[in-house]
Amino acid sequence: MSSVAQPVPDSRGRYGPYGGRYVPETLMAPLEELEQAYAYAQADPKFRTELDSLLHNFAGRPTPLQFASRLTEHLGGPRIYLKREDLLHTGAHKINNCLGQGLLITRMGKSRVIAEKDMERQRLNVFRMRLLGAEVIGVDSGSRTLKDAINEAMRDWVTNVHTSHYLLGSVLGAHPYPQIVRDFQKVIGEEARTQILQAEGRLPDHLIACVGGGSNSIGLFHAFLGDAPVKMLGVEAGGRGKSLGEHAARLAAASGFTGARPGVLQGTYTYLLQTSDGQISTTHSVSAGLDYPGVGPEHAWLAEQRRAEYTAVSDDEAIQAAKTLAHIEGIIPALESAHAIAELIRRAPKMKKDEIVILNLSGRGDKDMETLSRYV
Ligand SMILES: Cc1ncc(COP(=O)(O)O)c(C=O)c1O
Repeated sequence: MSSVAQPVPDSRGRYGPYGGRYVPETLMAPLEELEQAYAYAQADPKFRTELDSLLHNFAGRPTPLQFASRLTEHLGGPRIYLKREDLLHTGAHKINNCLGQGLLITRMGKSRVIAEKDMERQRLNVFRMRLLGAEVIGVDSGSRTLKDAINEAMRDWVTNVHTSHYLLGSVLGAHPYPQIVRDFQKVIGEEARTQILQAEGRLPDHLIACVGGGSNSIGLFHAFLGDAPVKMLGVEAGGRGKSLGEHAARLAAASGFTGARPGVLQGTYTYLLQTSDGQISTTHSVSAGLDYPGVGPEHAWLAEQRRAEYTAVSDDEAIQAAKTLAHIEGIIPALESAHAIAELIRRAPKMKKDEIVILNLSGRGDKDMETLSRYV
């Protein structure tokens, strides 16, 4: 297995052939402005100090790396560690990026922030957003899922570009978003690396994380990319079946999932689920955060280089895995994270007892209670 030789992205925001900036002319200037503001912030130690303070005092970093002794015993395979991003304020890794971009845009003097959500399945989060003072507008266009909400958010951004910032929540979209979001999430892997060296005196054999847009997984993987023996496994949504429309598996073609080819969506060139004539396909997953036809361009590049492996698990396996973790470890995971657990359950019996796995528990299950209640 080779390690990534070149720093990515390159100056044009490319990860190999993937990534880039495919946007209407009106968005070129704000993206360049964002890129420049980010470069200034990176060079300013005060920015890092302020962000570290927020991550620590407001969000609760560092998160624990918990040795899951009962799950380890239950599965009878490798030593399993859980990176507990579910313990963060608001319940998921997403806050790492929100705080980073939030701090960046206060420096840019922008006063209005646009974001997107799957309103139906993230109902509890939508209620929380309203409680925090956000205006939440429903989208009636297209398939009325996350992809359409992103389209509307981009439309609003084009209209209000001077006052507004589009806070993209994953490693998606036009350059510099995939890089900025990755950089704000890479703290996950940096902490995990230090913590596992402290706990075990050596690096892990496997990293496992679910992949929606790909931010929690790249956040875990990034600090280990140069460590060739560390295997990385991204888990996508296998939904109800392997044919197009039934899943959201963009990189798991090796497992028989069909319909993914490179193309351009929402500003970036990456693997997309599309019909034979190039229309973006509908997708399905029990988990809202994995239900999206595209994947972050850096993952497309890691997959192509075989630096990371990508697979998918079904809705049923994910639900079953959520129940297993709840019963065995007393932790109710987000349905997104449950996909990673399902893949671990599948693979653990084939792993050696002295192998070490770090699994990113990207979020807690509170937001999924309504969905989960239908299965218990
Ligand atoms: C808890 C949780 N995990 C994972 C994801 C998937 O996103 P990403 O692949 O960017 O980490 C989401 C998205 O909403 C989420 O809420």
